[in-house]
Amino acid sequence: MLKFVATPSFKQDINFVFATEEQLKKAKLNLSAAQNKSLLNLLKNNKLFTAGAQQHCELIIGKNYVCVVGLGKAKELTPTQLRIIVRKALLGANTAKAKSIGLIPHDKSQETITAVVEAVNLGTYVWDKYKSAKGKKTQLRNQNIIIAAAKTISVDRVLKTCAGVNLARDLVNENAGVANSKYLEKTVRAFVAKKRNAKLTVLNKAELKRKGLGLHLAVNQGSINDPKLIIVEYKGAGRAQPYTAFVGKGLTFDTGGLNLKPTGGIENMRMDMGGAAAVIGTLKNVLALNVKKNILFVVGAAENVTGSKAYKPGDVIVGYAKKSVEVLNTDAEGRLVLADAISYTLKNYKVKTLIDAATLTGACIVALGYDYTGLVSNNDKLAESLLKSADTTDDRAWRLPLYPELKSSVSSQIADIANLGRPKGAGGTITAAEFLHQFVGKTHWAHLDIAGTSFVDGHERMYFGHGATGSGVRLMTHYLSNN
Ligand code: BES
Ligand code: MN
Ligand code: ZN
Repeated sequence: MLKFVATPSFKQDINFVFATEEQLKKAKLNLSAAQNKSLLNLLKNNKLFTAGAQQHCELIIGKNYVCVVGLGKAKELTPTQLRIIVRKALLGANTAKAKSIGLIPHDKSQETITAVVEAVNLGTYVWDKYKSAKGKKTQLRNQNIIIAAAKTISVDRVLKTCAGVNLARDLVNENAGVANSKYLEKTVRAFVAKKRNAKLTVLNKAELKRKGLGLHLAVNQGSINDPKLIIVEYKGAGRAQPYTAFVGKGLTFDTGGLNLKPTGGIENMRMDMGGAAAVIGTLKNVLALNVKKNILFVVGAAENVTGSKAYKPGDVIVGYAKKSVEVLNTDAEGRLVLADAISYTLKNYKVKTLIDAATLTGACIVALGYDYTGLVSNNDKLAESLLKSADTTDDRAWRLPLYPELKSSVSSQIADIANLGRPKGAGGTITAAEFLHQFVGKTHWAHLDIAGTSFVDGHERMYFGHGATGSGVRLMTHYLSNN
């Protein structure tokens, strides 16, 4: 349970007081005069504690247990670093089995409180659904966490946004056999139920066939689960306003198909619906925040498996846009599903801006690692806005180029376009983006390759533990509220 109190106290089982080096030097922490005095009096005796980053000093004040946590020099303290430090303090308190934890931030700025709230709500998230009760006991969510800050409207926004992020994480972390296309549909249906301004349409296998979404169907051909194109029309503005559309890659599992992924490359592929999860998490936020825009949420759900029914390398397939595609590799399936989802969205709805999110290429991990989402766009203004949102929310992105000469990299000898970029292994993220680019026409479009950012395996990344991160949700939610 997370609570807010306007004035700081030392009444919890553990009370963390965060302070920068400068604050300590000036003997002025973010506390009441009396608290400040009694705390600094005790700190005086400790010559080693300088409030350097990650330094801790534990004190007993009266009957209360106070832990002063150093933040280092104010100038060097980034919002990311603050989230990391607060999270570490919380995880430490958890080990100490505190029932209630007080967090006293070093200042009252919106940026600081946002970081602290996210450190709590994102930093302590764990996927423990399949742990036994005994294993679950060690998790932090049983404690009361009390932040010394006012619960403002902006804090409320952060809380709601975090809920969308963690929903996306749950969807990604869930077993692929559970979180299949039907499950995604059910999740979305539950959100829009009884909402007058949100309408759900689901195209199932028969409709996809009738309407000619051949690429989407081909990818799903080997699966026992139905392919689904899930569309939510959200009206937060006047009827005539065009939509901002979000399109998510929803590969509930990606084995690679007949171009089977090897051991080492397949284990986490339930994460291949990370784009869809980000879109659904953003939908949750938009409904909670009552965003004043018309927005389309589109999820292309499919499963890429092997078997005698699976589509084959060398197949030429015609999609919704009537373009023929040569399948040079069945593992480059995301762009096929997205091509149909994008074409369908643009043909059937009045869309001004389209943003897709997809765990699209391993090459993006090679290019940017795990901390930055790859951003490709045909519109500088849109790209700038998204980068700004990425920066503000700490849901980071970095732009990669798109340029006319890329077009030839996805040409085919026997079809209109090929699903594999040439030369092999070169610029995999931008050739995949160029493939999508061929289906967006003149629409303002941005592509978010979240292959690296949406999942953490073993290694700790920033303030995320093992598993899904919900990347894209904070970025997209912020973009909607600010553009
Ligand atoms: N879903 C994968 C991309 C991926 C890889 C996401 C690692 C997250 C982590 C995608 O469908 C894929 O298999 N891409 C291929 C493309 C290649 C065949 C051109 C890849 O990246 O190897
Ligand atoms: Mn693949
Ligand atoms: Zn994939």
